[in-house]
Amino acid sequence: MAQNNSQIPYRQHIYANIVGWGMYVPETRLSNEDLEAILNTSDEWIQSRTGIKERRIAAEREVTSTMGLKAAQQALTVTRILPEDLDMIIVATCTPDNAFPSTASLIQNWLGANRAAAFDLSAACSGFVYAVNMAAQAIRSGSIKTAVVIGSETMSRVMDWQDRATSILFGDGAGAVVLQASTEEGGVLSAVLRSDGAGYDLLGLPLMDSPYNNNHKLRKMFMIGGEVFKFATRVITESVTEAVYKAGITLDDVALVIPHQANDRILMAAARSLNMDKDKFMSNVERYGNTSAASIPIALCEAVQEGRIQEGDYIVLVGFGGGLSWGAVVIRWRVPRPENVQGSRVAQSRRRVSYLRARLRDRWRYWRRRLSSTFSRIRPNYGRIPRLRSKIDEYDFDD
Ligand code: UT7
Repeated sequence: MAQNNSQIPYRQHIYANIVGWGMYVPETRLSNEDLEAILNTSDEWIQSRTGIKERRIAAEREVTSTMGLKAAQQALTVTRILPEDLDMIIVATCTPDNAFPSTASLIQNWLGANRAAAFDLSAACSGFVYAVNMAAQAIRSGSIKTAVVIGSETMSRVMDWQDRATSILFGDGAGAVVLQASTEEGGVLSAVLRSDGAGYDLLGLPLMDSPYNNNHKLRKMFMIGGEVFKFATRVITESVTEAVYKAGITLDDVALVIPHQANDRILMAAARSLNMDKDKFMSNVERYGNTSAASIPIALCEAVQEGRIQEGDYIVLVGFGGGLSWGAVVIRWRVPRPENVQGSRVAQSRRRVSYLRARLRDRWRYWRRRLSSTFSRIRPNYGRIPRLRSKIDEYDFDD
């Protein structure tokens, strides 16, 4: 039976606003001069071709999950949200600690986010843009209220340090945002997500031998830089234009574009092609290099800290990379000035308790497993456990 409009219950429009942001980069800096000592390269070449001066390198015990956790915790401090309020955690990464369990599951456990779904998203350097849109869609559909989206990478562990054309580009780090349902118009307004798998051989990180692996080393990243450069400039222009159109605004309305930080020359070429002022393109590539899926959230955090994003601004996030994959989202920023939005002290203390409880639970589970496996090993020694022995003797195995 056809339903007339008056029977359809009124559902308020839900928006997915960014309400928290955080980043973490390792302490160790690797400068171009340091690279000169290990590779046939020069500071002059690297700076003139890429704009990069230094990048951060993860310490021995730092991995994608531990850096992602720190970024997520920092993003939560801006809000009043507790870990148990989170419905979803997505980690965009191409350098996960494991194939499974997901990096997101590890972070979910350490945060004590006991009600959250958790999964990793693999779309290389476009991963963060994809993940923000996935979380925003889930919020806007009404199925969840709060999500943390993290981009975290340990690129230094998958570099071929003999390949000077690629290894000089990348660095390690993590960034995160918290998205929350709101009835206030804003947040993620439009998205363009695309892929062209025909470019699989331009940029990749093979994990196992496959019929289409053209002699690339396993667990080492490869890239045909020149081709990726041309692809990147083209898709930034196309996807930003389309996402802006879909959001119902014009390029003139955009306060800041936050692109994947791959190479300053790519950003300048894209700005030229869009006929936009280069100053409207956020760039921090000189300090961190290319941190793949982490580069956009790190740049977003720094843009907020530098006061380059104000309440009501339209910003565009645009990513591109392996797949080939690319995507852009338009966001209306709805958070008042950062100094006014620090999460309450009460929430801060409750979050600390939650992290501590999660840590204790984690340790408790670990020791319980150790103890139970120790006991299961001594079980066959019937002399030590006579009661168990007599129980087994009583048992009729033929039954
Ligand atoms: O995050 C994923 C997306 N990735 C990107 O967007 C990266 C896109 N590509 C690029 O940023 C650039 O293509 C690179 C920075 C990777 C390379 O810059 P290029 O201007 O395209 O250089 P090229 O590969 O054409 O190489 C030019 C020359 C070559 O020497 P010959 O053949 O002209 O004698 C290279 O061997 O520069 C040489 N070269 C280097 N020289 C000093 C390549 N790497 C280096 C190096 N130091 N590190």
